[in-house]
Amino acid sequence: MDVFRIGLIGAGSIGARHMKAIDEVAHIDLVAIADPSPAAAALGASRGIPVFADADSMLSGSDVEAVIIATPTERHHADVMTALNHRKTVLVEKPITATMQEADEVTRYAAQQGCRVLVGHQRRYYPCAITAREIIQSGRIGRLMAVSGQWTTRKDDEYYAPQWRRDIKAGPVLTNLIHEFDILRFICGDITSVSAEITHHDQQFDKEDAVAISLKFANQAVGTFLLSDRTPSPWTWEMALGESIKFPKTGMNAIRFLGTEGALEFPNLVLWRHAEDAGDWHHEIRPEVIATPFIDAYVAQCRHLCAVARGLEEPVIDALNGSRSLDATLAAARAATDGTRVTLS
Ligand SMILES: NC(=O)c1ccc[n+]([C@@H]2O[C@H](COP(=O)([O-])OP(=O)(O)OC[C@H]3O[C@@H](n4cnc5c(N)ncnc54)[C@H](O)[C@@H]3O)[C@@H](O)[C@H]2O)c1
Repeated sequence: MDVFRIGLIGAGSIGARHMKAIDEVAHIDLVAIADPSPAAAALGASRGIPVFADADSMLSGSDVEAVIIATPTERHHADVMTALNHRKTVLVEKPITATMQEADEVTRYAAQQGCRVLVGHQRRYYPCAITAREIIQSGRIGRLMAVSGQWTTRKDDEYYAPQWRRDIKAGPVLTNLIHEFDILRFICGDITSVSAEITHHDQQFDKEDAVAISLKFANQAVGTFLLSDRTPSPWTWEMALGESIKFPKTGMNAIRFLGTEGALEFPNLVLWRHAEDAGDWHHEIRPEVIATPFIDAYVAQCRHLCAVARGLEEPVIDALNGSRSLDATLAAARAATDGTRVTLS
């Protein structure tokens, strides 16, 4: 099989995670890096691959089939447009861009160039997420009525040392919520409206200390989501699953899906149903643990990028779909700051 050649644009912390994934897959190679930092130059030298100052010079000076873009969010739009200009298949880290106007431009230009853009929402590749989606969409818990989720933890004090981390743009809504909304959209379908209550009464920075979000989905289900970066607790996706050694595993589920015939805890799947089909609150309700394998989602995402570029698979999350997760997240930020209910088109 021919080796699939990837170029990495932005070799910082998440760029390194993509490199690790590429290294684990046979027949997929990292052949060039675009990043102006001295650290990237050293990395390229240690791997014996060329390092360019920016995306355009890498794409003009090397022969890559696809790119992974892991530059700071404000650069995503420019770097994706450059890659599309060179007619490459693109995997861009989340969020697709910083604004909806930029995201719309990316969607349009990708179609015009006949290129595929994938967005780096890696949670969608976990077998537990795919199985939860099948359970909800096949009606195994009946008609979906409600969702309850939580992402509540305490970030370390050093995290807030840079002034920009105290700004509303670095709060849990704009930093962390997009992953939660994307996985809810993957499992339940689109979000149609969002409202939020917010509090700053711990750190008293511009960014929120805690936020309570209320949601409605296109399928009429309602939802609530609590986020806080100031509250030690065992309830976040990362801790539930043990996705990263940086966030020690608790195994405690952080999201519950509630249907007319049962409930599903997530991401460690536990399906709750009455013993009898027509069970109600007078009947015992029992848990069934559904085991799914734990995988490296970045490896799965990397293999998928190659398969999409070769026309073998359709994108798990394309530019338009990634834009909708951004739209819902920006709507939550607007709802939180303005105290209004925001309806999504
Ligand atoms: N999927 C996830 O769970 C996840 C996790 C962390 C970060 N991210 C996203 O990844 C992106 C990068 O985050 P990070 O934490 O790795 O940032 P980072 O600051 O560690 O890395 C960014 C890199 O981009 C390089 N860079 C800056 N300008 C450039 C340019 N013009 N051309 C090429 N390279 C350039 C920098 O030198 C740096 O090495 C952000 O959009 C972030 O939202 C996603």
